[in-house]
Amino acid sequence: MNSFNFSKLENRQNTMSIKWDKREAIFGNKDILPLWVADSDWQTAPLIKAELIKRAQTGIFGYSFPNQSIKTTIYNWLKNRFDLEIEKEWLVFGTGVVPAINFALKTITKANEAVIIQPPVYRPFFEAVKNNNCQLIKNNLVKKNNYYQMDLVQLKKQIKAHKKKGIKVKALIFCSPHNPVGRVWKKKELLALLRLLKKEDIYLLSDEIHADLVYSNYQHQPLLKLLLAKAEFKEYRKKVISFMSASKTFNIAGLHTSYTLIEAKELRKAYQKTKAGFATSNSPFGLLALKTAYNEGEKWLEAQLKYLEANYRFLQKYIKENIKEIKVSKAEGTYLVWLDCSQLGFTSDQKLIEFMNQKAGVGLNPGIWFGKESGSMHLRLNLACPQARLKKALTKIKKAVKNRSK
Ligand SMILES: Cc1ncc(COP(=O)(O)O)c(C=O)c1O
Repeated sequence: MNSFNFSKLENRQNTMSIKWDKREAIFGNKDILPLWVADSDWQTAPLIKAELIKRAQTGIFGYSFPNQSIKTTIYNWLKNRFDLEIEKEWLVFGTGVVPAINFALKTITKANEAVIIQPPVYRPFFEAVKNNNCQLIKNNLVKKNNYYQMDLVQLKKQIKAHKKKGIKVKALIFCSPHNPVGRVWKKKELLALLRLLKKEDIYLLSDEIHADLVYSNYQHQPLLKLLLAKAEFKEYRKKVISFMSASKTFNIAGLHTSYTLIEAKELRKAYQKTKAGFATSNSPFGLLALKTAYNEGEKWLEAQLKYLEANYRFLQKYIKENIKEIKVSKAEGTYLVWLDCSQLGFTSDQKLIEFMNQKAGVGLNPGIWFGKESGSMHLRLNLACPQARLKKALTKIKKAVKNRSK
């Protein structure tokens, strides 16, 4: 099929890997099979690896900066993959999406203003709001038949209620595609959200780190593309910040390189000023990996997407046939799968987590990490691993569930 090998069981132990080498500290079980942290268990694309080896051989690792050529590379990637046409000057480089979101909030908010998130959602969104002394508005997604949607009716009500109390609702942090539920938001859903936020004059911080990880038949819509296409958003565009990275797509998260897109000059300047006080320059390895990924990595990405999709189909079938108590949310993208475990019958989240860690011996993210109520009795599984490893994990869960009901 292709020469890329996603099936090889790489040994990541003793590499200071968070996923593998922190098992005892996190799960209290050093032998647990880890399918949690959002990185992949396979090597990055061979061309990226080769370029990094070449760079390492120079032996010179001084300070680096993103030059025009890497900006052109990003321009081309966004144009070719999403038909999004940016201006290169909108780009602000950084060492991660999480710090970038924090810098953005620090730039635009004042203490006690409110920021909306849509749980269950990536935990650092909650923390970013807290870090900036803002009030958190949780507008939970709603689930119907294991399929999640945004609740804009409830969102409108919450904005109104806060306004009534004299609290300024300043921003919404958006996850697109959505971690952990795997939704790839449709154009119609995005336009409805944009129109509501525009009307209410609320900033939109759009985390699109999973943009490239979308299953066939789905298409990621960058918010910027929708905004640029419609005259009605000409002014509102000034309130939108997008965050992107090649880190999940090409398994280079440890190289800490991301980029933020800010069209409005004043806002961009203010953001850069905030960032300058805290952030360091990018690593030469991170910049090189990003550039090589976007210039040469498309074939590898397409092969990886096929592998991920096959893993997802495998998981769905396996669980349906063997672990009927677990319901798999319909995933449209990301390599993360959201599992509804409520029918396993545990009386507390702690018991569910202990069961998975100690009886099944599989390390998954507790659902409550993504939202106390919205994530209760759920677990998140990362399927970016060889299918044999995924099968082993599912077999362990199946056995533990069977033994429990004996
Ligand atoms: C939605 C989302 N945003 C951000 C990150 C992390 O980004 P970074 O490592 O660039 O800070 C992750 C990692 O899992 C994620 O899922």
